[in-house]
Amino acid sequence: MRLNSPQINVMTKTCFKVSRSLIRDFGELENLQVSAKGPGDFVSSADKRTEKMIIQELLKVNPGYGIVTEESGIHNKLNEENRWIVDPIDGTMNFLNGVPHFAVSLGYEEKGEIKCGVIFDPIKNEMFYAEKGNGAYLNNTRIRVSNKKKLKDAMIVTGGPKSSSKGKEKILNEFFKVSQNVNIPVRKFGSASLDLAYVASGRFDGCWQRELNYWDVAAGIVILREAGGFVKFFDEDEKAPLKKNILASNANIHEELKDLILKKNIE
Ligand code: IPD
Ligand code: CA
Ligand code: CA
Repeated sequence: MRLNSPQINVMTKTCFKVSRSLIRDFGELENLQVSAKGPGDFVSSADKRTEKMIIQELLKVNPGYGIVTEESGIHNKLNEENRWIVDPIDGTMNFLNGVPHFAVSLGYEEKGEIKCGVIFDPIKNEMFYAEKGNGAYLNNTRIRVSNKKKLKDAMIVTGGPKSSSKGKEKILNEFFKVSQNVNIPVRKFGSASLDLAYVASGRFDGCWQRELNYWDVAAGIVILREAGGFVKFFDEDEKAPLKKNILASNANIHEELKDLILKKNIE
């Protein structure tokens, strides 16, 4: 690893540790896909077990830090100053269906600001990580956002809407608007954390998505910024601080993408 603060060390070690059982579980899924019961329960227990292992590792090192998790809520609620933000498997539906595109996403927040983050894709053995002020990396290589100049040439990724989404129409409208303005069809890869990591490393040029949760994007925010990218949260709801609508891209196309998505009507 090219960064070695205590937080980065804890997060990367934790990712490597849980990835062994995740890879084993992912292999097991092939058998379960064809079984009568299907893989649903197995995956939800893999999710919970992974999160439990992550929490154990984090508490071992910093017993008093807060931990915001997807599966088991907030631990050490009173500590809002130092918090880990945990998504044990981001891309659960990919995992469940045997699609090798999912990640463990861990962020570390100090006084409300994300200081460092790690996104680990255990199947491709790709560790994306960054620390505020010290750059962003993929394994041992420094990463940068792309240099694409125009939105029409950009590769953009998004996700959703969920079938239960109340904002489905708005989301589909945005999809339509962006699709009308890019030559490469908009991508949907099913893991918001990896979408951000891919923008940070220049594979994608931008992404946007409504109705995400903080743990989907916490690590990605710092990785993207340290890679030279811009992040914007929009339509924030003060009553639901963990809900996030996010737009992220290289610096060149940011305004264009933002104007397009936040524009009221389809033209
Ligand atoms: C989901 C993924 C997906 C996004 C969903 C998220 P999960 O997280 O990030 O890409 O479209 O909104 O909930 O459930 O796989 O951890
Ligand atoms: Ca997630
Ligand atoms: Ca998850």
